[in-house]
Amino acid sequence: MEPVDDAKSADPRHLVGTSNSLAEGGRIHAKIEGRYVSVLRLNGNLHAIDSICFHAGGPLGIGEIEDLNGKNCIICPWHHYKIDIETGEKYYQAGVWENGKMKPGAWQSNGVKQRVHSTIEENGNIYVTFSKGTLVDSDGYAYNVPCGERMKS
Ligand code: FES
Repeated sequence: MEPVDDAKSADPRHLVGTSNSLAEGGRIHAKIEGRYVSVLRLNGNLHAIDSICFHAGGPLGIGEIEDLNGKNCIICPWHHYKIDIETGEKYYQAGVWENGKMKPGAWQSNGVKQRVHSTIEENGNIYVTFSKGTLVDSDGYAYNVPCGERMKS
């Protein structure tokens, strides 16, 4: 399904699929104006996140979902980074020394590393609207182009 042509419309939404094509637990992977975005339906809610991992360009959009202290995280298949699908925050677990031994500490946020987008369902269709604002690390990988090419733009 082709995205809405924004040049002809003031509507910033991009059509990515139909409601019927996205069952509970399912995903739609879309290329919107060259940007790769994954839309997930999880516990009845829709989420949209950049498909390409900010870390090293891995296929984050196809990662498993894991509950991390009540936060739904998508786990990158390449290096297992945990990214909150709601906020785009990356979580880490620093080691702590206890009685001369290293143990895993509490999960903490590294801040927002992966861009998340708005997504809605309307009249049987699913739309994504790109989020804007401060640059996020995944912006550099969102278009899945070689590093050298990214640096030129
Ligand atoms: Fe995703 Fe490294 S590329 S964790």
